[in-house]
Amino acid sequence: MKFTLYDLPYAYGALEPYIDAMTMEIHYTKHYQAYLTNLNTALEKYPDFQTWSADKLVEQVKQLPEGLQTPVRNNGGGFINHTFFWQIMSPDGGGEPRGKVGEEIKKIFSSFAAFQDQFNAEAKKVFGSGWAWLVVDKNGKLQIISTPNQDSPLMQGIRPIMGLDVWEHAYYLKYQNRRPDYINAWWHVVNWQQVQENWDRLHE
Ligand SMILES: [Fe+2]
Repeated sequence: MKFTLYDLPYAYGALEPYIDAMTMEIHYTKHYQAYLTNLNTALEKYPDFQTWSADKLVEQVKQLPEGLQTPVRNNGGGFINHTFFWQIMSPDGGGEPRGKVGEEIKKIFSSFAAFQDQFNAEAKKVFGSGWAWLVVDKNGKLQIISTPNQDSPLMQGIRPIMGLDVWEHAYYLKYQNRRPDYINAWWHVVNWQQVQENWDRLHE
C-alpha cells in the first residue's frame, strides 16, 4: 500500500487574500508531495510496516526499526501534519467557533480572544520550523502546544484538533519574515466546523 496525497477540497487561490495561491500551490505540490514521496520510498524496504496507517507509524515511531524512525518522523510527520492542516482551513472559515469546541475554549482559556492570544504566542515562539497546535490532552482537556520540525502531537500520545504550520515555506512568499502577520491572517480561514468534527471524533 502506498500513501497518496489528500485532495485539496478548494482551489489554490481559495484562501486569498490571507494565504496566496502561489504559496498554496508550492506548499501542496512541492513540500507536501516531497514528504509523501519520501515516506513511500522509506517504506519500500520495510514491507512489514506497509499495512500500517500513516498516523500509526508516526504515533509509534519509537517502536519502528531504527532505519525507519527518522524518515517516518520527518516525512511521515510532514505527510500527516499537512493532510490535517489542509482540512482545518476553508474559504468559508474564520470567525469564532460555536458548539462544544467554542464552549470548551471559553471554559479553559476564559475567552476566545484570550485563547487566540495564547495560541499566537505559542506559534510566534516556535524557533525555526514547527507547528502550533490545539490538542486534547490525555485528560481530555484542551491545551495549546508547539512541536519542532514535523513532529506530531501523536508522538506524545495526544491528539490535535487544530494546527498551524509556521514553517517559512507556509508564508514566506507573501509575508516574508513577518510570521505574526501570517498568523493573524490565518484566523480568517480556520475551518471551525472541521475542528468541531475532530473534537467529536475523540469524544464518540
Ligand atoms: Fe508546511
